[in-house]
Amino acid sequence: MASARLGATARVVKSGSRLLPTKAALTLTPSAVARVTQLLKQQPSVAAVKIGVKQRGCNGLTYTLEYATERGKFDEEVVQNGARVFIDAKAQLTLLGTEMDYVQSKLSSDSLKMTKTELKKRLVKKASKMPNAPLTFNALPAVSKTVDGKKLEFSCQWATHLSDETFDWVFRLFSTNMRELYHKSQWGYDEPSKKAELLATTARFIIVYVEEESGKKPIAFCHYRFDMDHGYATLYCYEIQVVPECQAKGIGSILMSILDTIGRKAGMDKLMATVFAYNEKSLGFFHKIGFTTDETCPTEEEGLDYLLLSKSCVDSKPNQ
Ligand SMILES: CC(C)(COP(=O)(O)OP(=O)(O)OC[C@H]1O[C@@H](n2cnc3c(N)ncnc32)[C@H](O)[C@@H]1OP(=O)(O)O)[C@@H](O)C(=O)NCCC(=O)NCCS
Repeated sequence: MASARLGATARVVKSGSRLLPTKAALTLTPSAVARVTQLLKQQPSVAAVKIGVKQRGCNGLTYTLEYATERGKFDEEVVQNGARVFIDAKAQLTLLGTEMDYVQSKLSSDSLKMTKTELKKRLVKKASKMPNAPLTFNALPAVSKTVDGKKLEFSCQWATHLSDETFDWVFRLFSTNMRELYHKSQWGYDEPSKKAELLATTARFIIVYVEEESGKKPIAFCHYRFDMDHGYATLYCYEIQVVPECQAKGIGSILMSILDTIGRKAGMDKLMATVFAYNEKSLGFFHKIGFTTDETCPTEEEGLDYLLLSKSCVDSKPNQ
């Protein structure tokens, strides 16, 4: 499938009470039909608009929208008044019985913006290929930091280079801090898919250690990625975890300020993070360090249990 990101947002409206009696997996509102038809007319080589899902760190899933030139083997096809939509196999369960709406937003782009998007994609690719972005961008704290009198050390690695021992520690900490929150969520606690997410080839890690007499001990990590999100070059904080005994001692803030520097120096538009709507501690933390609700955050009516937060990497464009 050849695909390109659409310069528009589609809103998937969960409607549990509106499960359709027919076989249609998804219905389109009149404005979504009009928009999909218009987009397909503009792109004669494209067969349909395809909806997929993407895992996004400290939450569940977000929806993606792309142009598709052909129907994938396991895609579900929905045609409504000539508007053709493919639904990726992985998205079918979560989309069953939902309604797709089209919302005009700042993201609906004109053709000029496409050129800009290409440049941004290049920046994202370049940053993602860096063997050690925090070091290259001189983003690690210049003055040595301490917690409880112990010096902090930072190790920056690609997920693909993590030792088994480090990965086991990463996963154990994630599970200690987050398992209960995931169990409460719409998506549940799914260890294999979380492990796959943490080990993705695009996943980058900053691990914080403290020096102890017996050697150095890991106490926090952050998993981040460079990605395009709705046309924005984004540094996405997929995960930030501090061991319980070291929380509220400034370590999370240090990690986020490293990401902030990387984001600015790499030319990203914004930093993003997803947080369970009921993870009040984490929401308090992100708000305290300047994150606000992102424009692509699902609305309350959509009934999703996570929030998309962001912080601008460009001073003149707050929260974009
Ligand atoms: C959320 C987390 C990463 C924050 O890291 P941290 O090292 O504990 O946070 P910091 O000490 O840097 O706190 C920074 C600021 O956030 C504020 N903050 C922290 N928790 C808060 C809360 N519950 N409500 C309001 N503000 C809060 C702190 O007051 C602090 O500001 P201050 O220095 O002026 O007091 C960490 O607590 C953690 O790992 N929590 C469990 C896992 C989790 O929820 N991760 C996030 C998943 S998205």
